[in-house]
Amino acid sequence: MADLTWTPGNSMRGEIKLPGDKSISHRALMLGAIADGVCRITGISTAEDVNSTAACLRKLGIKIDRRGHKVAVHGQGAGGLAPAKTVLDAGNSGTTIRLLAGILAAQPFTSTITGDESLRSRPMRRIIEPLEQMGAQIESTDNRAPLTLRGNVLHAIDFASPVASAQVKSCVLLAGLFAKGVTRVTEPFHSRDHTERMLREMGVSVHTSAAMSAVKGPAGVRPCDIDIPSDISAAAFFMTAAALMPNSEVVLNNVGVNPSRTGIIDALTAMGAQLRLDEVVELNHEPRARIIARSSKLKAVTLGGAMIPRIIDEIPILAIAATQAEGTTTIKDAGELRVKESDRIAAIADNLKRMGASVRELKDGLAITGPTPLKGAEIESHHDHRIAMAFSIAAQIASGETLIKNIDCINISFPGFIETLQMVQSD
Ligand code: S3P
Repeated sequence: MADLTWTPGNSMRGEIKLPGDKSISHRALMLGAIADGVCRITGISTAEDVNSTAACLRKLGIKIDRRGHKVAVHGQGAGGLAPAKTVLDAGNSGTTIRLLAGILAAQPFTSTITGDESLRSRPMRRIIEPLEQMGAQIESTDNRAPLTLRGNVLHAIDFASPVASAQVKSCVLLAGLFAKGVTRVTEPFHSRDHTERMLREMGVSVHTSAAMSAVKGPAGVRPCDIDIPSDISAAAFFMTAAALMPNSEVVLNNVGVNPSRTGIIDALTAMGAQLRLDEVVELNHEPRARIIARSSKLKAVTLGGAMIPRIIDEIPILAIAATQAEGTTTIKDAGELRVKESDRIAAIADNLKRMGASVRELKDGLAITGPTPLKGAEIESHHDHRIAMAFSIAAQIASGETLIKNIDCINISFPGFIETLQMVQSD
């Protein structure tokens, strides 16, 4: 595991190449696998998490041809998956295990799926409960991975999820494709809706209203070509960096701007960041745009409620922005951050304190008072890609050197992040 020493940058300028959206990439592979024919995908993410999904599907007998960012998934139809000869490994990826569990629960064979140490510690009861209500048979120890799913005939349910989670919602909706009747999921707040959009693109009728999504099963999935936009969660690091650094301007092309993901744009704009969106187009039911971000003077905001699922992966980088904003930024209702790839509330608070920020850890969030000059420090990534990347941006605006430990985890979502950051640094 490599550590990396960062020296602060002066400004950031240029056009940035971003990876394809990770959430959409997972879904394109999984829905492609159960589609009735070949799906051609362009712009797919090269992230390790997405590779984990592809590896699991290959073990389930799906042929996936890959050439760089282009992939052909040879879908075998609803009943076409084959039993895996060995345990499926989701690596670090919550999306892989939770979404795939929805599909595996309905197959006429037994599968076991597990993951790395972080994934094996994350809560799975949130998917075990609804899947069992649908008739699935699942074995686990203490509701954690590994999960053994004994395929069963499923029936539709009306499920009120206690958490706003696209992984839970998508798991149940995917299982619902194989169940007879209408499967409905209601959430406390609307989470990202890429599954619903892609299902529509693939000919499945999906009903949505406010924070409810429903599919009628059994439903076949029609193969189609999918172009994946750049990942707004990856763009977030550069939008924020440009806002925080003097004399900076970055251009981010073809970024996915699905409204269930654009909380980062709304939050940064409310903080006073200069962001411009243009060239907005919609393809495969997913809008995308060019984003231009510039140096800005920031002020504090309060973020909570329905905003949280819209910024769930961007809170680490927003916390860095908050250290440079005038006043106290409060992030609340974000207890879900404690069960991500690491306990992100604790990881952000600890690392920000090391850099001299004024931060208070709350049960379900953070209170950060700024502006405070950050100083270089030794940072623990906790093997969490978003913590490593957020603190690489903090290192850019700090005085002195910063050492980030175990930065290899960045490849989980953004291979090439460090090279990209080095490329856009300017004097
Ligand atoms: C994801 C949903 C989010 C997000 C994760 C990807 C997805 O998790 O944090 O990185 O692709 O569905 P939850 O829906 O569990 O909050």
